[in-house]
Amino acid sequence: MKARRRVVTASGTPAKRRPTVRRIKPAIAPIVRDGVAATVRRPAVPSTVTPTPAPPATPVDLAVDLGRGLVLRNPVLVASGTFGYGIEYGDVVDVQRLGAICCKGTTLRPRIGNPTPRVTETPGGMLNSIGLQNPGVDAVVEKYASTWAGWQVPVIVNVAGESIGDYVEVARRLEGVPGVAGIELNISCPNVGAGGIQFAIDASAAGAVTAAVRRATDLPLLVKLSPNVADVRPIARAIADAGADALTAVNTLSGIAVAASRERPLLGNVYGGLSGPAIKPVALRIVYEVSQVVDIPVVAIGGIAELGDVLDYLAVGAVAAQVGTAIFADPGLPVRLVGELADECRRRGLDSYRPLIGSALPKRAAPPSARGVEYRP
Ligand SMILES: Cc1cc2nc3c(=O)[nH]c(=O)nc-3n(C[C@H](O)[C@H](O)[C@H](O)COP(=O)(O)O)c2cc1C
Repeated sequence: MKARRRVVTASGTPAKRRPTVRRIKPAIAPIVRDGVAATVRRPAVPSTVTPTPAPPATPVDLAVDLGRGLVLRNPVLVASGTFGYGIEYGDVVDVQRLGAICCKGTTLRPRIGNPTPRVTETPGGMLNSIGLQNPGVDAVVEKYASTWAGWQVPVIVNVAGESIGDYVEVARRLEGVPGVAGIELNISCPNVGAGGIQFAIDASAAGAVTAAVRRATDLPLLVKLSPNVADVRPIARAIADAGADALTAVNTLSGIAVAASRERPLLGNVYGGLSGPAIKPVALRIVYEVSQVVDIPVVAIGGIAELGDVLDYLAVGAVAAQVGTAIFADPGLPVRLVGELADECRRRGLDSYRPLIGSALPKRAAPPSARGVEYRP
């Protein structure tokens, strides 16, 4: 038989056994405000008395008209490629509360996408080279459109192609499909007919693809600008003149990462698109410039992670904003931003968010200048 172990303290006396106290995690976590846990006080009302409900919040008009009948209930959208087809998030997020959903990039034929690795984290963002993996427009319509048709939230199909003919054909196949509320043209694609130069970096190519799609469809037409240009303004003007209903700005910035071995670039496709908070100052500059040279609505995209980012974009002329990369870490963010924007308006005594638009733009219109395109210390 084993001898019973006795624990002896430094003083030589046997230690008293202390009862084990189990710490039980509270089922309801304390409220944390500004990083500090607040004490939850029980209401000083007898349990038989029903507490008076809080007065209903003053309504705030968040509706925004993107043209051709595309009126969103609020100006917070989710960006293409970061929210799938919306359906995947149905169990996690109340998608109906979003302003609109821009679905994954859709092409005429199915695409298997780029070789792996396709994503890597970067300071303040990420690089991706998914390569427009998608099942093709016919499969997208067949699989998702009937669900979208039952939703209140409009779904805008993001369209990509390698020739004007590709874009036009996808637009034709989306025309009149119940559940498709609009088209967002991703023109950051190489134009095979023009030796691989991107539609988005050339004003006449951007204008030509927009005009061709405009002729092919009556759907609301948004065109997405690339930040990878020296001066985006002539491109934005060409797109607006070609009949786009709205501009979205911006797509990802071109970048690369190097593999740990330092023997090759990291991404299978070498190049990737940079997104996340790191690109916000660039996107902000582009929205500022573009909203001064076109009369159509501008929807901002780039690094939105909190309400302050949305307010910044509104201040430089955007009428709405898309949330992208931040969704991967926090899928509930876009819906939360809708509520926070309404609260911010109430705090400022506004019954609409519209007075927030353009507050940081020059007070008097000036002819477009080259300022900002170059580095001036
Ligand atoms: C993984 C991933 C996939 C994307 N796919 C598309 C796409 O198919 N079409 C498109 O126009 N933009 C695509 N984008 C760009 C986003 O819609 C958005 O313009 C960009 O990420 C900047 O916004 P953010 O910084 O909030 O992410 C993608 C971005 C990411 C991160």
